[in-house]
Amino acid sequence: MASSIDLAGRTALVTGGAQGLGEGMARALAAAGATVVIADLRDDQGAAVAAEIGGHFVHLDVTNELSWKSAVDAAVQTGGLDIVVNNAGIEISSLIINIEPEDIRRMLEVNVLGTVLGIKHAFRAMGPEGPAGKGGVVINVASVAATIAFPAIGGYSATKSAVDRITRVAAMESGKLGLGVRVNCIYPGLVPTEMGAGLANDMAELGLFPTPGDAVAGVVELTPSGRLGTVEDMADAVVFLASDQAKFINGVGLPVDGGMGM
Ligand code: NAI
Repeated sequence: MASSIDLAGRTALVTGGAQGLGEGMARALAAAGATVVIADLRDDQGAAVAAEIGGHFVHLDVTNELSWKSAVDAAVQTGGLDIVVNNAGIEISSLIINIEPEDIRRMLEVNVLGTVLGIKHAFRAMGPEGPAGKGGVVINVASVAATIAFPAIGGYSATKSAVDRITRVAAMESGKLGLGVRVNCIYPGLVPTEMGAGLANDMAELGLFPTPGDAVAGVVELTPSGRLGTVEDMADAVVFLASDQAKFINGVGLPVDGGMGM
């Protein structure tokens, strides 16, 4: 699909870009003209998507600092670094009454630590002293879960609220340090990716809805636009926030949820 937004000459690194929302974001950024680096744990899947869009793949575990350093170095070598999308995330459903500490730790590691390290290394690379050095854009992927109370996603929602807050602080620090990096986040509504479909199944298994279909219907019922989100809905928002059309948008959380979280 041709894009009216022109990102030619920009390099974008997308975490979790091997599938789901991240894959859609990678495809849309490439369609807008950016050079895209997919950074994920899933090497074969990520490399296949990168090959299809004429981009690059780099192995990245977002929870690991050394892994971040080498992924960002690799991205910069492709021609610079202008856009970092911190999209990688995990969701483990549980009612709080049954919550397992290890599940919370895993979500904190990937969703919170992974995003914080992504911002850190984006700042270091894109700031005036960094190897890319031209400023740029960071887009974090939070969730509608950061803005509503939905049962069985308490731990996940807490991590996404943390992503929302670190976004604001990062935008402020970037300004104070003169890094020239805008930092925003999006709150996607439910999209039937592997994670989204898994969540609907979990809701049924936990007895909160009779079937996964009823869980989906429950979400749609709460959504003024009357449907689930699509991968393209999220990708379009990311391309917009990455573009010069959003050049005075900084430190915001943008709901992309059909109104569910209002
Ligand atoms: P998904 O499970 O389909 O894909 C997640 C991707 O992240 C996978 O490619 C996986 O390999 C990668 N990943 C996981 N841990 C990683 C790590 N430690 N290092 C590097 N990569 C890692 O999930 P989906 O649905 O595409 O979600 C993407 C983002 O959107 C997540 O942050 C999720 O929390 C958020 N989100 C998703 C919603 C949905 O309904 N699908 C709704 C709201 C937010």
